Formats: sequence, C-alpha cells, structure tokens
Amino acid sequence: MRITFNKPPVTGRELEYISDVIASRQLSGNGRYTRLCQEWLKQEIGASDVLLTQSCTSALEMAAILCDLQPGDEVIMPSFTFVSTANAVVLAGATPVFVDIRSDTLNIDETLIEAAITPKTKAIFVVHYAGVPAEMDSIMRIAHAHGLLVVEDAAQALTSRYKNKPAGSLGDMSCFSFHETKNIVSGEGGAIALNRPELVDRARVIWEKGTNRRKFLEGAVDKYTWVDKGSSFLPSEITAAYLWAQLQESGTICSARLSSWNRYHAAFSALSDKNNLISLPKVPIDAEHNGHLYYLLAPDADFRSEMITALDQAGVSAHFHYIPLHSSPAGLKYGRSHGDLPVTDLISGRLVRLPLWYDMGSSVDIVVAALKSVLKI
Ligand SMILES: Cc1ncc(COP(=O)(O)O)c(C=O)c1O
Repeated sequence: MRITFNKPPVTGRELEYISDVIASRQLSGNGRYTRLCQEWLKQEIGASDVLLTQSCTSALEMAAILCDLQPGDEVIMPSFTFVSTANAVVLAGATPVFVDIRSDTLNIDETLIEAAITPKTKAIFVVHYAGVPAEMDSIMRIAHAHGLLVVEDAAQALTSRYKNKPAGSLGDMSCFSFHETKNIVSGEGGAIALNRPELVDRARVIWEKGTNRRKFLEGAVDKYTWVDKGSSFLPSEITAAYLWAQLQESGTICSARLSSWNRYHAAFSALSDKNNLISLPKVPIDAEHNGHLYYLLAPDADFRSEMITALDQAGVSAHFHYIPLHSSPAGLKYGRSHGDLPVTDLISGRLVRLPLWYDMGSSVDIVVAALKSVLKI
C-alpha cells in the first residue's frame, strides 16, 4: 500500500451544504455560506472583519493593494516561502527584499529585519512556516518603530497560536489558504483577515471588483459604481459551502493532525538520540502549532535526495520544500536579497516533508519504519 503525501479531509456534510446551495439557486459569492464562514473566522481570529477569497494567493494580492504598494516600494519577506508571498508584491509593482530565516523555526529571522529597512520600505510580509508562528512581538515592535505595515502570510497557520493569541491576529492583516493541501480545505480557497477597522471598507470594495456594491446592497447608495482598484476576489457559494462543513470540524481535524505530528516526533526523537543523521523541527515554547507539516532535515542535499528516492521505492511519498525565491529566475529579476541567505540556502537543500493528513493513524508507523530502513538504524 502506497502512503500518499496528502489526503484532503472530508467531514461528511460537504454534499449536504453544496446541495443546499444548488437548491437555493444562488451560486455566486457573498451568500449565506460565505457569511457563515466569514463570521466563524472573524471569531476565531478576533479580526475586525474577514473576507473569503479564491485562494491565499488572491488574499495576498488584496493585502498588497491595501498596503498601497507602488512601484519603487520595498517589502521585506523571507525567501524561504511559496511564490505567492512575493508575486503579490511584484504584481503591485513593488520589490520583494529577501532576508534570511532562523535555523530553528525556519521563519524570517527577526534580528535581520531592521538592517534591511530603507526609506523605500513599506511593509513586512511574514510567513508562519509549518503553522509555527514567527517571532511576532519583535517584528511588530520593529514595524511600529519604522511605520511599516505587517501582513501575516498565515496560509499554513489557521488555529495556531503565538503567546496564546491566534496566528493571523497579530499583524495589520493576514492571509489564509484552504487549498487541498492545507488543514482545512475547499479545493482552492482562502481568506483575508483585517485587524484594523479602518481597512475594512476599502477591503470590501477591492473584494467586489473595486465597486461600492456593498453600499448599494445596504441601501446606502442608489446605484453601484467603480470607486477603487479591485478584482473578482470572492469565491462562489459552492466553495463556501464546502468550507463551512470543514470549519465546523476544524477542532477534530487539527487535533488529529497534531496527534500524527506528535507520533512522528516521538519516534524520530528516539531515533535522533541514537544517530546524528536527521534533525527534527523545533517549536518555540510560546508557540502552539496546528500540526500542518512534519519535516526532517537531512545532513546535506545529496543525502536528502537519497532519502526521498529510497522512501519513494518503499512506497512513501515525501517532498522537499521550498526552492528559495531569492535565487530563482523571477526572484533575481523582480527582487533583491539583503546580504547572503546562508540558512535559507542550506535548509532548502536539506528539508524533507513527510506524509501528513488528518486521519493518518498507524500509517505514521509505516513511514517511520521505512525511514529507519533508509537510515539503516
Ligand atoms: C506560505 C504560503 N503562502 C501562500 C500560499 C498560496 O496559497 P493558495 O494555494 O491558497 O493560493 C501557500 C500555499 O502553499 C503557502 O504555503
């Protein structure tokens, strides 16, 4: 039996809610299920408002518009992230400035941010890698001292917590993903959370193609018109209905993932005590993660490739992560690096992600056994 890398969760109510949407004959966005999901997320994050989007990519694009990014502006971010973090900035005409990551959490190294700030810097885009929150207190302190906006790319971090506060509640705005590889899924899907009330009205306009349609629906204007930049960021009710079934079971899904994560961690902690071939993820004491991703660090890139190939031959799908953005063709063209990024370069060559999904159960033990035989321990 092959152990797949991912298996999107199904909670059992998805079809019922989708059938309800079909019966209602209201398929476009911003209907009942969109509102249910948005209200749930708003409570979970404690945000001023939340808007569902078609993806985290589109939520990041909304965030870039809300930051008022202009050509020439700079945005500080890690290079060790998915392309969408940088693409949103580039689409707005601004320049991503890549800084290195910490070797423990693999999140942006907050001690390097201040030196990367120039008069052109407008914002910091922070990623919570593997659902483990970045060092937000220091980042917010730096941002306030320099008048910068902070966007949390919380694509992987729904229900994670930093110092007992929800990931996504700490920056000025935050972006989430419900892509089928995430904990809570709707195929493609995302959301933007607005943590400052003054951002809400503009965000609603940007969300609905740059129009004041919302004011029209509320009866505040007699026709709606084009008032700002925008796009069609909202998902259909069919997507929202699927998502609602998932959000209602988010506690069960995340705790099942966490228990598989812990099962991996206990097994590999015992193994890494016996040999120094693999390094394990580190979660800071004040962070609570959501069991999104389990990875190991191989001693070097060659050994990592051997591990992935040997696992594949043993019937286990494992993957690397990420190809750094600063040295990618588009990263070199549209961005710049602040100094060298040795940790990013090293980690991206060594990281192996292992299969992890919500009801994996004893499949974890099969992966562990396969890895033991690959490592010959
Ligand atoms: C850190 C990060 N940002 C953004 C995204 C993009 O998410 P989506 O596929 O919902 O656009 C991902 C997806 O994997 C991600 O990991």
